[in-house]
Amino acid sequence: FNTTQDNKPLIHATPPEGWMNDPNGLWYDSKDELYHMYYQYNPNDTVWALPIVWGHKTSKNLTIWDDAGIAMAPTDTITGFYSGSVVVDYNNTSGFFNSSTDPRQRAVAIYTYNTPEAEVQCVAYSLDGGYSFIQYESNPVLSNNSTQFRDPKVIWHEESQKWIMTVAKTQEYKVAIYSSSDLKDWTLESEVEKVGVLGYQYECPGLAKISLPDVVLESGSNNKTIPNSSSSKDAWVLFISINPGAPQGGSYVEYFIGDFNGTVFTPFSRETQALDDGKDYYAFQTFFNSPDNSTLGVAWASNWQYGQYVPTYPWRSSMSLVRNLTLEYFQANPESKILKLKSQPVIDYDCFTSNSDVIKFSNLSSLSTLDSIYSFSNSSEGILEFNLTWSVNSSSYDNHDFADLSLKLRGGLNPFEYLRLGYLANVNSFFIDRGHSTNNWVNENPFYTNKLSVNLQPFDYVNDEISTYKVYGIIDRNIMELYFNDGFQVSTNTFFFGDYNYISSVELSVGKDGVFDIQEFSVRQLHL
Ligand code: FRU
Repeated sequence: FNTTQDNKPLIHATPPEGWMNDPNGLWYDSKDELYHMYYQYNPNDTVWALPIVWGHKTSKNLTIWDDAGIAMAPTDTITGFYSGSVVVDYNNTSGFFNSSTDPRQRAVAIYTYNTPEAEVQCVAYSLDGGYSFIQYESNPVLSNNSTQFRDPKVIWHEESQKWIMTVAKTQEYKVAIYSSSDLKDWTLESEVEKVGVLGYQYECPGLAKISLPDVVLESGSNNKTIPNSSSSKDAWVLFISINPGAPQGGSYVEYFIGDFNGTVFTPFSRETQALDDGKDYYAFQTFFNSPDNSTLGVAWASNWQYGQYVPTYPWRSSMSLVRNLTLEYFQANPESKILKLKSQPVIDYDCFTSNSDVIKFSNLSSLSTLDSIYSFSNSSEGILEFNLTWSVNSSSYDNHDFADLSLKLRGGLNPFEYLRLGYLANVNSFFIDRGHSTNNWVNENPFYTNKLSVNLQPFDYVNDEISTYKVYGIIDRNIMELYFNDGFQVSTNTFFFGDYNYISSVELSVGKDGVFDIQEFSVRQLHL
């Protein structure tokens, strides 16, 4: 066990000590220009336990998160304030506010109160800009005698001038949609039932309106996920978290693109699409009031299969980076384009000092089986980013070759600890290997999948024989986020070395000459 805070991510939100899971109540305060994030928090231990409370973080730039203590907590030890959301009630529809609270700071939390008897939905309001909440005296506002009814996410539906809540009837595989004019009286409008991968249960649903791309597709484009007669400029995206039962094991987030008329959500396709292909991305939620109509969101960067056992102490888990989501058409294979969410990390580079160690590898077109190695100075703080763009000449290898491009990112103290990433041309897949660690836990935990793959599509079909791929990677101590082809595919994974989690050298190698052409490979450490 690493008993220091050394491996704790710096630009990913973490608990001060103790346990963190789902992001809750994400909202943007446009008065103080401040982002708020609450989260499922157990300050007393590094595992999930009742009474779970709402921890609180704030950020000016979505890169550095300040701790803001505990925003709300149950008054006994056998219940929990489970996941939920926050809205800004500008027009005081709830009647909770008077003129002394600026309209831009009228935060109302809608969350699940978990008791041994039932899960019910409650509301609480804040008179101090989101730092503390007062419970509504007539709670709960919504209940249905079930122990499996949770995670309300509320949005403002402009078109019908109503609040809309999505909430999970988890083990019936239903997302119930309720409407309200005052955040207190809720009316059931419809239910979305059994879409996508079901797994054991649905959790943390959410709806977001996202603009459709302008591009008009050529006719005859053969994909169901594209609305054929839609005149609308926007689509609606329904997010659902599944646990356990994810394609990659354990927990994951799937999404459905469709229409929402204020009453019913109609998906264009009921097929699952993963928001992230990695093992550590769950309970995604969007911000209320994201600036400029953007869709910003955060996920818990862990997996219920092993999240409570990972070798960190005295804290466990972090969030992902904040991502900006847009909808675009994606060439899934040579025959089909599909409408897909594209994820871009939100990073404020002004947070970093300018003395970052930047390396641009050049002249790699003739990269041979000889490695190209670079070692950083030892002053790393553990944040590193890289860009790798390569193309594959498919006429230069055959099935018997092991034609891989491989990038090793080695740890600081022990050269046998490294992350290995790369692409194996023969099988059209990107690989991620996080198993080269001296930490026994990594090798012994039965669910901490060491080897992961991403079914990577070329972002540009140059011609029949040459395809181009790219990946942007950001590593923050014990978490790595990989964005492929400008964010059409993402893979988020934690990793744990035995000694020292910081990457101190990188090396690139190929398994066979003449297959890969490296257009770009640049790496830099970032210093706060
Ligand atoms: C998802 C979840 C939610 C629940 C919360 C409890 O990770 O199980 O459904 O509200 O965690 O902490």
